[in-house]
Amino acid sequence: MRFLWTCLRRRRPGAFDTWSFLFGIVISSLPFMGYILFGPHCTCSSVPANLFTTKQILDLVASVSKELSSLPTCPYNPSFLIRGTIARYSGWSRINESLVFPRDDTDMLSRGSPWHWFQPSPLADRKKVSVVVNKLLTTFQSRKYYVKEVYKVIQKSDPGNGDRFLLDLELGLMNDPLNRSIRFAQHVYQRKGSDILCLPEGMNWNSSATVYFILAVKDQGLWVHHFLKQLTIASLLTGDTNFHVIIADFQSKDINMSEAFSTSLLRSRHTIINLTGNFYKTLALNKAAEAVPNAHDILFVFDLHIDVPVDIMDSVRKNTIAGRMVYCPAVGRLDQGSNSVEHRGFWQMDGYGLVAMYKSDWIRVGGMNTNDYTDKWGGEDWDLLDRVLMASLEVERIKYPGLYHHYHPKQKQWN
Ligand SMILES: *[C@@H]1O[C@H](CO)[C@@H](O)[C@H](O)[C@H]1NC(C)=O
Ligand SMILES: *[C@@H]1O[C@H](CO)[C@@H](O)[C@H](O)[C@H]1NC(C)=O
Ligand SMILES: *[C@@H]1O[C@H](CO)[C@@H](O)[C@H](O)[C@H]1NC(C)=O
Ligand SMILES: *[C@@H]1O[C@H](CO)[C@@H](O)[C@H](O)[C@H]1NC(C)=O
Ligand SMILES: *[C@@H]1O[C@H](CO)[C@@H](O)[C@H](O)[C@H]1NC(C)=O
Repeated sequence: MRFLWTCLRRRRPGAFDTWSFLFGIVISSLPFMGYILFGPHCTCSSVPANLFTTKQILDLVASVSKELSSLPTCPYNPSFLIRGTIARYSGWSRINESLVFPRDDTDMLSRGSPWHWFQPSPLADRKKVSVVVNKLLTTFQSRKYYVKEVYKVIQKSDPGNGDRFLLDLELGLMNDPLNRSIRFAQHVYQRKGSDILCLPEGMNWNSSATVYFILAVKDQGLWVHHFLKQLTIASLLTGDTNFHVIIADFQSKDINMSEAFSTSLLRSRHTIINLTGNFYKTLALNKAAEAVPNAHDILFVFDLHIDVPVDIMDSVRKNTIAGRMVYCPAVGRLDQGSNSVEHRGFWQMDGYGLVAMYKSDWIRVGGMNTNDYTDKWGGEDWDLLDRVLMASLEVERIKYPGLYHHYHPKQKQWN
């Protein structure tokens, strides 16, 4: 029997769901997937997950696709997209973080501070979210589904044109003796002044895209082990194995790299790029990105010293759209002595080191700038971001629960 791990959240103490998940409206190779939300208020246990047969899943996919086709499509041209050039390093100040619903575990526990970088993600209006969710469900012709839980909504507001919502819902099956449910995630759009919900053209996420983690490293053995351990846990808990790690290594002396990757999970899911000389981050990232095989793969530039939230790959797929959207989840920087459970610190809102985009978009914006950023700290992430924005790509930005950067003594990587 297959098992899935799920999580009891503080909001509903004692509640217990047996969940089965369906990703987007496309059948994924990962029909069953559980989630853990990081944080102090979460305990985990395993429940049986093989609640649907393959045939039932196919029928459900067809049924949900049919329901969605009754929504009109609409052009999606947010007024904040940049056409033309912007001043160097001005990109990050033009990006507003999106609103989320429900409240997530992103409070940095430093109450009383006026600085918004300590604050949790800004909350979408409950009434607005429920109107949108209900509108979606009432558009559905059959009455086969009901909303069991709003798992997560991300609202991107465009003061000029309207609001885009990524609705990530658990839909219950009506009159099902087993109370089964499916997971549904779709971008919808509501134009300003209209109360019709539509499907924004081109905003289709791919539930079967492979996520390539891209890392550059020199003598950070312990942190490579930390990353691999966390990634392995994430994969085991969710069943998500549609990923690959590309690590560009400058002859690290404190780790046997190929040995670190020789686990049953990672052996076939990694590539080591061997580089020599001084640590040269931009070059290393470009070399690693070159090793991503296809234009329709997602490249996720990651970093060491950072936890891997269990559902991050899923979130990357939903918020990264070829030719349209780049995902830059914000990282929480933990204070010395703080940890991912009692997370104290601040959200690094000016940091854009973590970025996910399709390889086709990476090529379009030119990847990292190796000429201006050689072996000095900083600036290369802002430079990339400027070029992303000038390519008229939308940047999705939220504080990501569990995406914490651990305090560590001053980096020795850069000369
Ligand atoms: C960002 O938010 C500010 C303040 O709410 C607003 O004036 C501005 O238009 C927003 N910018 C974008 C790009 O949405
Ligand atoms: C399904 O849910 C209903 C209402 O929440 C409950 O009364 C019933 O016992 C549940 N059935 C099963 C099999 O869990
Ligand atoms: C989604 O990703 C898979 C795996 O990379 C690819 O084979 C497929 O063509 C993609 N689908 C779309 C619609 O781009
Ligand atoms: C690293 O580990 C591999 C596989 O376990 C082994 O074959 C190799 O000799 C090791 N390299 C070093 C430098 O110890
Ligand atoms: C880099 O070195 C490792 C270990 O020696 C080896 O397994 C790997 O294939 C090399 N990578 C490339 C791209 O040659």
